[in-house]
Amino acid sequence: MSQSVSSAATTAGVGVQAAKRRTFAVISHPDAGKSTMTEALALHARVIGQAGAVHGKGDRRGVVSDWMAMEQERGISVTSAALQFSYRDTVINLLDTPGHADFSEDTYRVITAVDSAVMLLDAAKGLEPQTLKLFEVCRQRGIPVITFINKWDRPGNDALALMDEIEQRIGLRPTPLTWPVGIAGHFHGVIDRRTGVFTRMQRSPGGADLAIEEDMTAAEAAERFGADWTTATEELELLEMTGADHDQEAFLGATTTPVLFGAAVANLGVRQLLNVLVELAPPATARPTAAGTDQPVDAPFSGFVFKIQANMNRAHRDQVAFMRVCSGKFERGMVVTHGGTGKPFTTKYAQQIFGQGRDTIDEAFPGDVVGLVNATALGIGDTLYAGRPVRYPALPSFPPEHFAAVRTDDTSAYKRFRRGIEQLDAEGVIQVLRSEQRGDGTPVFAAVGPMQFEVATHRLEAEFGVRVKLEFLPYEIAAVTDAAGREMLRGESNVEVMTRVRDDALLAVFQHRWRMRTVAGRHQGLRLDGVIDAG
Ligand code: G4P
Repeated sequence: MSQSVSSAATTAGVGVQAAKRRTFAVISHPDAGKSTMTEALALHARVIGQAGAVHGKGDRRGVVSDWMAMEQERGISVTSAALQFSYRDTVINLLDTPGHADFSEDTYRVITAVDSAVMLLDAAKGLEPQTLKLFEVCRQRGIPVITFINKWDRPGNDALALMDEIEQRIGLRPTPLTWPVGIAGHFHGVIDRRTGVFTRMQRSPGGADLAIEEDMTAAEAAERFGADWTTATEELELLEMTGADHDQEAFLGATTTPVLFGAAVANLGVRQLLNVLVELAPPATARPTAAGTDQPVDAPFSGFVFKIQANMNRAHRDQVAFMRVCSGKFERGMVVTHGGTGKPFTTKYAQQIFGQGRDTIDEAFPGDVVGLVNATALGIGDTLYAGRPVRYPALPSFPPEHFAAVRTDDTSAYKRFRRGIEQLDAEGVIQVLRSEQRGDGTPVFAAVGPMQFEVATHRLEAEFGVRVKLEFLPYEIAAVTDAAGREMLRGESNVEVMTRVRDDALLAVFQHRWRMRTVAGRHQGLRLDGVIDAG
């Protein structure tokens, strides 16, 4: 399915290869069109012959994973991996962020492995909760965001109103690169604000092929589109007056967002988006280490694990660690050092994985994602390196919003129960907490999305033979506190302070956001950090 774009470049320097990489994720709310956009991007890069092969809806053959029966029942994908393709001599790595409503920490972690993000908005819905949450993670990590207003082929909001919404609600200054001629639902094409050229766009017959594009002069467009053309040019004047022009430094500094308009389903505006990714999105560059230095891309090989997925292939019962290469050249079979233990690690089984598609990877460069198969020694956030030791900062743990005490009635299974929970914790499937208030030592599962509970209980049963019972706790918000905070909160009712096993962080958990605010108001100097506020 995917082509080995990196192999052609064996002789080129690592720096040159890194400069060619664009590693990004699409962040969006379910149904905004992420899968459709993935297909459309892949179509443009000719990875697949016909749009439809990635998504797998209806009778189209899907390559999105079905690694668990549960997924199939629900018709959703809970895997994240990377799709690699080449476009205009650039290697594009599109990291998949599962887009269903019950999303989990995996979705957040993917953002730690990208250099930029495409924020996909439904023209009729604007900014939706999940987009806001994911955007917040981009903001915290200073990741530049390109905005694509999707579904312009059907009725939606006014373009200027959408610009206002972006600026007001997320504080990023929109700097449109293209501007639509025709309101949502009456889409004629876009004006490129940098060149002034108007490109008429029409969907191909059936919509499955590239859009039909035709550049027109202003006079031709004015004659053809009358009032729509006049409105667009007036809006452009307004944008010019407010200084909403692209500024590369501000974009890379994550204070502005270039905006494009289109309709992924008809491949409209997708070529323009790819061009912006190639021309403006940041390549793989030096990466900050835990020691506070920057690891240059041409240093010896290093990378970090941002995702672990077990049992992706039921026939093989394997476990895959997804690693982003940060520096140097990765070659399959090389023996590297595992940062956590200092032990050698052989990378014999390295693959490029997207859904069910797998290709053996022989080499990879900074920005690329490698799936290391049967890498049971690796944990989330682990660094691998060749040469001088390097360690990348621990991956952030995200504040959970769902909590359940977990028990088993089967006393003979207690050891397996403990081992299973340790394994799930190490993989980052779910957060495991202990609470002083629960004297019996019952662990508490904490999740960013409720589906993590299903994955965890399913795996405890399938892989460790332990049936567990979950007792859902009435909390829905958590913030990191400290020992002083724990003392302050002792007398408060309906507040628990629990220790997260993974990193010994103290989490104060509350029933509601307003309850947290009231309690915080009562205790001066109470530390409550890390709440992702999606408004
Ligand atoms: P997601 O991955 O973000 O959840 O969204 P997905 O691509 O599955 O798209 C959700 C729905 O929106 C799909 O319709 C899809 O066809 C439609 N869609 C995506 N992009 C566009 C667009 O540019 N214009 C229009 N008009 N629709 C778009 P569906 O009816 O749920 O599924 P399907 O049967 O069409 O595949």
